[in-house]
Amino acid sequence: MDFYLPTKLFSNIDSFSIALEKLGEKFLIITGKSSAHNGSLDELTKILNKYQKKYEIFNETIENPPKELLELILKRHGKDWDVIIGLGGGSPMDTAKAIAILCKNNISVEELYELEKYNTASKIVCIPTTAGTGSEVTQYSVLTINGIKKGFKHEKIFPTISLLEPKYSLTLPKDLTISTGLDALSHAVESALSLKSNNFSELFAFKAIEIIKDTLPKLINNLENYELRKRMLLASTYAGISISVTGTTIAHSLGYSLTTDKGIRHGLATAVFLPFEIENAKTKNAEKIVSILGNMLDFLKKLNVEITFSVSEQEINKWSEIVANSSHVKVTPGNYDLQKIKEAYHWLIDKSGIYGR
Ligand SMILES: [Fe+2]
Repeated sequence: MDFYLPTKLFSNIDSFSIALEKLGEKFLIITGKSSAHNGSLDELTKILNKYQKKYEIFNETIENPPKELLELILKRHGKDWDVIIGLGGGSPMDTAKAIAILCKNNISVEELYELEKYNTASKIVCIPTTAGTGSEVTQYSVLTINGIKKGFKHEKIFPTISLLEPKYSLTLPKDLTISTGLDALSHAVESALSLKSNNFSELFAFKAIEIIKDTLPKLINNLENYELRKRMLLASTYAGISISVTGTTIAHSLGYSLTTDKGIRHGLATAVFLPFEIENAKTKNAEKIVSILGNMLDFLKKLNVEITFSVSEQEINKWSEIVANSSHVKVTPGNYDLQKIKEAYHWLIDKSGIYGR
C-alpha cells in the first residue's frame, strides 16, 4: 500500500474530548514529569473527570524506554485498560504503544519484536508536548532492549486519536526545542532520501523540511512564540506521516548508539549524520533537499549544534556492526557496507567540525 493513516487528528480540544469519551471506560495515562507543568495533564484529567472515566497515571517515563520500565508499569497498574494515553515526547508515546500491546497479549517485552505473535492492542491516544518524534501519527515504537535502541512496527499501534496542541510546548527549554526539532528534521530528510519514498511521503517530507528550515532558527530565539511552536508541531507531524510510509534511514541507525552509549539526545545524535547521508545519497531527492535547506552542516552550525563524547576504535567497530545489521541500511541510497558505516562515524569525529574535543 502506498499510504495508510488510520489516526484521527484533532487540534480542537473540545472535539478531541468528544472522541476520547467514546473510546472506553478505563484509561491509563503514561507520561513524564513535565506534563504536570505545561498544563497538558491538568486538561486531560479534567476531561476524564468530566466523563467519570476510571483512570490511573504513571508519570515516571524516562528517555529511551527500557524493558524494565514496561515491566514496572504492568506490575504497578496491571493490564485491564481499554485505552492507553501517551502524553509527552517520544518516550511516553512509544511506551504507551508497547503497553497497549502488552495489555492485550500474554507476551514478553522481547516478543514485541516478533510481530506474528500478536494482533490486538488496547486503543492508543497520543498527545505530543514536544515537536519532534511524530509518534502521534506512526505505527512505530522505539525501545531500548539490553542496551540496544530498536524500533518495532505494527499496524495495531497507530494511535486511534491524537491531539495537536502547540501551547503544551511553549515551556520547552531551548536545548530540548533544538534536539526535538532536529529529530523532526531528521525524519523528513531521511524519509525523502529513503528508497521507499513515494509521492505521498515526499509531499509531507518536503513540506516539513521547508517549515523547519524557516521556523526552527527563529524559534530558538523566541521560545514562547505560539505561532512558531504551532508551525513546528505541524512540521513534526508532517515528518511523522512521511516516516509512517518509509521508516527512517541510516542517520537514525548511526545515531542510536550515540544515544544509548554516550547519552547524546536522540534528535542531535541523528541530525549530525544528515550531512553525510545527504552527500552520499546522490539522488534527485538529495538535490532537492539541498535546494530547500542549503548546506545541512551550515544549518546545524547556525543552531550552534556541537556534540562532545569520548570514543574508542572498538566502540566504533561495535556500533558499526549494529548499524550494518539494521533494517535502515537496505532503504538508504549510497550502498552502506561496514566500511562506509565506519567512515560515517569517522567523518563526524574527524571532519564535520561539530564534534567538540
Ligand atoms: Fe527519531
